[in-house]
Amino acid sequence: MITYNEKNRTIKLDTPNTSYVLGIEKGGFLLNLYYGRRLPDDNLWALTRRLASASFSPCDPEYTDFSTDVAPMEYPTNGRGDLRVSALSVRNSDGNSVTDLRYVSHRIFAGKPDMPGLPHLYVTDDSQCETLEVTMCDAYTNVEAVLVYTVFADCDAISKHVRLTNKGDKTVKLECALSRSVDLPSMDYDLITLWGRHAKERQLERRPLAHGLQGIHSKRGSSSHSHNPFAALIENGATETNGNVYGFNLIYSGNYVITAEVDHDATTRIVTGINPEDFGWQLNPGESFITPETVHVFSAEGLGGMSRTFHRLYDTHLIRGRWQKEKRPLLINSWEAAYFDFDTDKLISFAERAKELGIEMLVMDDGWFGKRYDDTTSLGDWKPNPERLPDGVKGLKEKINAIGLELGIWFEPEMVSPDSNLYRAHPDWALQIPGREPALARTQYVLDITREEVREYIYESVASILRESDIRYVKWDMNRPLTDIGSRVTRPGEIYHRYILGLYELMDRLTTEFPDLLLENCSSGGGRFDMGMLCYSPQIWCSDNTDAVARLDIQEGTTLVYPPSAMGAHVSVCPNHLVGRTTDLRTRGYVALAGTFGYELDITKVSDEDMEIVREQVSDYKRFGHLVREGDYYRLASAGSVLCSAGNPVKGGRIGRSYAWSFVSKDKSEVLLTYIQKTGEANVRPEIIKLAGIDRSKRYRLDDGRSYTGDELMNIGFVTDRQRGDGSGSIYHFTAEEV
Ligand code: GLA
Repeated sequence: MITYNEKNRTIKLDTPNTSYVLGIEKGGFLLNLYYGRRLPDDNLWALTRRLASASFSPCDPEYTDFSTDVAPMEYPTNGRGDLRVSALSVRNSDGNSVTDLRYVSHRIFAGKPDMPGLPHLYVTDDSQCETLEVTMCDAYTNVEAVLVYTVFADCDAISKHVRLTNKGDKTVKLECALSRSVDLPSMDYDLITLWGRHAKERQLERRPLAHGLQGIHSKRGSSSHSHNPFAALIENGATETNGNVYGFNLIYSGNYVITAEVDHDATTRIVTGINPEDFGWQLNPGESFITPETVHVFSAEGLGGMSRTFHRLYDTHLIRGRWQKEKRPLLINSWEAAYFDFDTDKLISFAERAKELGIEMLVMDDGWFGKRYDDTTSLGDWKPNPERLPDGVKGLKEKINAIGLELGIWFEPEMVSPDSNLYRAHPDWALQIPGREPALARTQYVLDITREEVREYIYESVASILRESDIRYVKWDMNRPLTDIGSRVTRPGEIYHRYILGLYELMDRLTTEFPDLLLENCSSGGGRFDMGMLCYSPQIWCSDNTDAVARLDIQEGTTLVYPPSAMGAHVSVCPNHLVGRTTDLRTRGYVALAGTFGYELDITKVSDEDMEIVREQVSDYKRFGHLVREGDYYRLASAGSVLCSAGNPVKGGRIGRSYAWSFVSKDKSEVLLTYIQKTGEANVRPEIIKLAGIDRSKRYRLDDGRSYTGDELMNIGFVTDRQRGDGSGSIYHFTAEEV
């Protein structure tokens, strides 16, 4: 999969359908020669072509016919000649930040090196991937950079990270240490990103590239609602099913940057990594720094191909542990059912009704500890409130178990309320600058988890409850951004990153001590939905907005990158505290069925008529949940308004009025098709949806007995039922029969 051509001095990384080619230029400059469809051969003229200099461009004095400023540099550095955006900038002991890396050596081997302290992709057997390590060095500072690439045998994805080591004898400071840079020889792309806010996460936005800088970042201390750490470059004219797409994603949950720069030659550079703003990492002689891992994907089959590659990669090589493959418990969460107003009796009444319906777990959300009767108090005091839980968490768990349900529990471990015993005892444990009162958000402060004693306190607060009560589900929440970046022990430029390393350490420890634990991450809804979190938490709460129609765009944006199996989705009442719209209960079920599925409502107040629908939904989840967890996901129609604004890649430019998606089992023997009409209109004919990814040669039978050939469903399409009203929809389950 990785080959070195001695004659051309090229290294070719192949995935099943893509190639990525590096060139070692004279002088040791490392070039990024090609990325795209798989090349059959590594002895191609185009790969031997070296770029020359342009007038007035800076050149190395020894190689005056070559300028890094016009060459496709693989890991561009600061201040030596490539004057576009840099991936690495090291301030040396003389005070300047000129950085110049040159090739030293490389090695290719089976398997993937570990990345201690950072979430990363993994393989279960070394034969599943191959790794290339290219060692480069700055002769002036003796800073070494090892560029580490892994290609996977079963996915069109390449991962990359960089290991930086100070091999000199003087301390240096990393001021920018990004994980990846890719140079593409044109600017004929649209940039796709996922913006959002609380209750409106991951909205797809598509804009044409323009000369200069464009991109997204976070300086919120988490990957955040504002922009997901993902970007795609989609060739002009490419759609959901056709055309070239490059997708970039970062396995990181903190401040990040993704910047695309189009230069004066209309070439595009896209860089990804830790946000250099407010970052400065002291690297003493002998010390190393590992950048977060990034993933890039090339698809010649449009956005759909890109999404399925990401899904397969994360399902197989990122999500780990027991819950990677196993059916997740069907849960009901107390948040929208009771908010802060519950006691043991109320929880028991939820559990009893849930049991009758076949629900498997009750999650006790916020409000069970300290004096937490509202959101102004008690974060950090992780002791059960005796008025609500007189027999403690363990006693409640026993009662819920006796009804036949499991119990799950909510924590927000990274936070502290000013009104808490913890804060009164340790005010300095909150991130803060001496002399400034820290900013409040949701009446809370952020704990300084760069400090070991703070992590220890958090760990024991959570772990002691899990140990004592044998609880196997935790919803780990995080409900405010980081501000007032000051710590008693950690250097200012290192706090953001050390915070995330501390968080990963906590999650790693927890999932190691409790291997059966199902961790569901959450951050004011889906504010930390990223690959870093997915490494520990196989499902992530997608959004506090549980309105089915609003969820259509949120879930479409989320599954552009992340697997549906990871997307926390519940049926709630509607209207609810966030949205005024009324959507059919059945549709709410169909939309939640595209993710982890569960409930978030007072089940004791559901009418008898609606109870029947809930029973059907539970049965649908039990029958079809495996397709969502393990199947391939196809977007078949979309009414996503933002997709339309720059040409709708799903519908080829036409504004759709519906959403349709399908899950196809890996052996193509089963299909679950969901069709939802966004806005009801009078006198419109039923829509015809063409299926994708099925077996043309098979017959597919609907549960009601109607039967179609695969060819028919793919070429002519399936005529959906006529829908009435906003957000009405249907699901269709097909089973293949041999012709
Ligand atoms: C956040 C979460 C909700 C709920 C509340 C509890 O907003 O997203 O699901 O857990 O906190 O305070």
